[in-house]
Amino acid sequence: MTTYYSEELIQSVIEANDIVDVASGYMTLKRVGNSFKGKCPFHNEKTASFTVSREKQLYHCFGCGAGGNVITFIMEMEKLPFVDALKFLAARVNMILPEKSNQQEDHQVYEKKKRLYELHREAANYYYKMLKTSKLAREYLLQRGISQETIRAFGLGYASEDWGRLTDFLNTKGFSTADMLDSGLVMASENKRHYDRFRSRVMFPIVNPRGQIVGFGGRLMATDQNGPKYLNSPETTIFSKSYELYNLNHCKNFLDDGRIVIVEGYMDVISLYEKGIKNTVAALGTAFTPFHGKILERYAGEVVIAFDGDNAGKSATEKAMKILKNTSLNVKILSLPTNEDPDSFVQRYGQQGFKDAVSKALTIVEYELELLKGHNDLSQTDGRLRYGNEAIKILRQLETSVEVDYYSKMVAGETGINQEVIRREVLRSKTRAENPSPLVEITRDAVLLQKIPKAYQKAQELAIRYCLERPETINEFPMDYLTEPFYKDLLLTLFEKRKAGEKIEVNQIMSHFDASEDVKKIVEFMMNEDEVSRSDYQDALEIMNRFYNEAQLDKLSEQIKRESANGNDDAVAGLTNQLIEIKKMMKENGRH
Ligand code: CTP
Ligand code: MN
Repeated sequence: MTTYYSEELIQSVIEANDIVDVASGYMTLKRVGNSFKGKCPFHNEKTASFTVSREKQLYHCFGCGAGGNVITFIMEMEKLPFVDALKFLAARVNMILPEKSNQQEDHQVYEKKKRLYELHREAANYYYKMLKTSKLAREYLLQRGISQETIRAFGLGYASEDWGRLTDFLNTKGFSTADMLDSGLVMASENKRHYDRFRSRVMFPIVNPRGQIVGFGGRLMATDQNGPKYLNSPETTIFSKSYELYNLNHCKNFLDDGRIVIVEGYMDVISLYEKGIKNTVAALGTAFTPFHGKILERYAGEVVIAFDGDNAGKSATEKAMKILKNTSLNVKILSLPTNEDPDSFVQRYGQQGFKDAVSKALTIVEYELELLKGHNDLSQTDGRLRYGNEAIKILRQLETSVEVDYYSKMVAGETGINQEVIRREVLRSKTRAENPSPLVEITRDAVLLQKIPKAYQKAQELAIRYCLERPETINEFPMDYLTEPFYKDLLLTLFEKRKAGEKIEVNQIMSHFDASEDVKKIVEFMMNEDEVSRSDYQDALEIMNRFYNEAQLDKLSEQIKRESANGNDDAVAGLTNQLIEIKKMMKENGRH
């Protein structure tokens, strides 16, 4: 590659950036003999085949064949062209590279992001200083049990009630109006006047794992104030809620046992930190997404979901569980009492109390069995039988026969059903579920499609092609309908590239996949010259939707038949209601 920079200069940047330190910013590496090992960030894997050598200053993945030096690592991870990766690394160690005028388009994106990071850094400093001037805000934090040290660790701040103080401040720092608006921290009214997004709020900077501030959350201090309790930065070039995790920047340094605790809110994270529990992250005012799962995979081996004990928390737990089941992570669930969140719990029971609760967290199977138990009266015979039958379905997701054995015994004890009978039923239905039909069994939701009809497959590919051509539509893509993990990976890759503001190029995307069929498929998608129109795309989604619903109807009718044969009237009623709902929905969709 020809660049403006001399070999010597490039070499000095490489030497100043130890590859183990750099890579550790993006993943958890463990020392094994002379090298360091971790789960490869460039492909999906359960075992750690990604190896970094401090001696050689190189990395290599035995799984996917990725390999290179610290520069190629940053090019891949940050999705940067060579020169920008070089600059990134130079900046990391405070080296200044001579500027070259007139560089390509990619460079502008990089410069834009750099300015936005700077702007956020300035804004955070500003809010932090403002906190010192506001007795009200300081007292609020104090009363919530937050020490000065923790305020500093999280860079907490305060946005005053004035409408334009941050805007004025950023002006004096010389930021352009365009950058201010693009940061989301400054807004424009209809008559083009500029004002601060955050006012009268305690401010929580959101810091990415590289230590860059990418956005803010702001909390009102009193209930009588107008506006939502929390306000967050909008999506920007450097911030996406479905991607960022609060506190990952600290958390990644406290993973000795490879475990991350996922909580719901800013204050849960901070309160736990105050009490010495630092391996936590929170999603930011949004549901937990598959992207979050993907990122956690890079850092942890086990995650513990510790959401609020209320109903909203329970349903968020179910959703996060569903997503995390599709990762290589070991998933546990900590159920808090109804009126507690991790913040209140740790205040009440202290560090040890929380740690004990974490160590008693349930596996997914145990959690699902607990829920099921809540719905059945085990003091009655029919309750025990219903529980036993449903429990068998839950046990089907167990992976090893040792586990099957263990839980069969447990359920046997609870129901009085013979353990061997349970074990056999679990294994029987398990093999049935594993070989449904010639076609693979797939994502959790598309699982309903026992075999994938040609029309569905066609629609799916067309929708993916549309998305490849117009990456801006990625956010609206119904990921649940994808029938192959590879398709999901492809769209995730696309999403990450788009987030990096990068052009979507076939050979760059390809380099993320190692299976040759996958690569062939991508080339096929990308090389297809037929234009996919918006209406083709919408038709395709509709087709997928219809098949999906029909499969769901089939499954429900089957279940209804089975349950009514068993004389299970309650179950029949519930299932019939679901069936009616789906039919209603399909009818409504048909009308549009
Ligand atoms: N949230 C939000 N907007 C709201 C309410 C909540 O974005 N109006 C997000 C925030 O990220 C918040 C998380 O959802 O941290 C969880 O909400 P909640 O449990 O109410 O927040 P806590 O962090 O527990 O806040 P607090 O204890 O200060 O009420
Ligand atoms: Mn709370």
